[in-house]
Amino acid sequence: MRAPDCSAHMRATDNVRERTECVRLLAHAGAMPLPIASADALAALGHSLSSSGYRFTTVTPATHRRVNRRPENARAHDLRGIFGWSRPFGAGVLPPEMDALLRRAGLCAPPEGGDDARSLVRASTIGERLYFHSAFPTSDDDAVFFGPDTYRYVAAMRRSLAALRRPVRRAVDIGAGSGAGAIELALLYPDATVYGADINPSALQLTEINAAVNGAANVLPVESDLLDGVEGAFDIVMSNPPYILDSDELAYRHGGGEHGAELSIRIVRAALERLQPGGSLLLYTGVAIVDGRDPFLAEIRAALDAGCSAWTYEELDPDIFGGQLDCDGYERVERIAAVWLHAVRRA
Ligand SMILES: C[S@@+](CC[C@H](N)C(=O)[O-])C[C@H]1O[C@@H](n2cnc3c(N)ncnc32)[C@H](O)[C@@H]1O
Repeated sequence: MRAPDCSAHMRATDNVRERTECVRLLAHAGAMPLPIASADALAALGHSLSSSGYRFTTVTPATHRRVNRRPENARAHDLRGIFGWSRPFGAGVLPPEMDALLRRAGLCAPPEGGDDARSLVRASTIGERLYFHSAFPTSDDDAVFFGPDTYRYVAAMRRSLAALRRPVRRAVDIGAGSGAGAIELALLYPDATVYGADINPSALQLTEINAAVNGAANVLPVESDLLDGVEGAFDIVMSNPPYILDSDELAYRHGGGEHGAELSIRIVRAALERLQPGGSLLLYTGVAIVDGRDPFLAEIRAALDAGCSAWTYEELDPDIFGGQLDCDGYERVERIAAVWLHAVRRA
């Protein structure tokens, strides 16, 4: 499905609500996006949290669960408890202006208030930037992801971009989620147009709002299955796609194929077709290692050798999501490695 018609309009207006309406129109008709009643109110809440000095680093679901299970953490006592740890909060914990903005945004459950209120969004930070994403636990199909992988992805992206000696005019983040990668890149290259591509309408909404919160006017959310919804060639194609074999097939987790590698393989192929000569693919993904072998690298190596003037591939972390090895389909997998691929298309 293609969506360029709306993007001219989105470029032309700074109004977050109008732009988010546009994203709504672009989104899947059948999917239920986050019930955001006012994008402007959520953006204002983001500004307010940022200027209060709010900081929160998102941890893995297992760590989140462990920390929240401690008796003293049953309820939120401060902003980090409400927006970071997704704990229920009582009257008076949230400052009245923020409470009003959260309710106006339609993201307080139950909406009437009382002692069991919860925020339907989390807010996490990377340095001074703030990103809204789905509240914990992220069990809904349209949950908008942000996690430790996001930190590794953004850090690796920054390292690779620091060594890049080419102008960036057009870039795309495939599977943008909350928009963190696209927004970080857009702020580094304010003259570039950066597409935040995703199949999840809620991700597109939050990318739009997070771009406004962080002042990245050059980010355009677009509904797109990989690169199907965006036209033309790119200086940068980047991605942190789903890479797990997930029995629930959640869109932010399930990579499909052998041990979850299918989407990552398709992204390498699609990027090599759509990169400008000299353009870069920046891919963060998780790879299931079997008997000491890396089946993902084996699958893409020939395409990289044929289509690239240079490519580097490194393990950022040898062992992530170890709990996954107990799940069906992982019987032969000895570890999941976080890897970083930087491939430069042949000129
Ligand atoms: C692991 S999350 C990463 C989100 C974000 N890039 C980050 O680093 O925080 C993967 C994202 O890919 C999206 N996605 C899954 N399949 C996709 C597809 N075929 N095309 C585009 N996006 C897809 C999901 O909806 C989800 O937002």
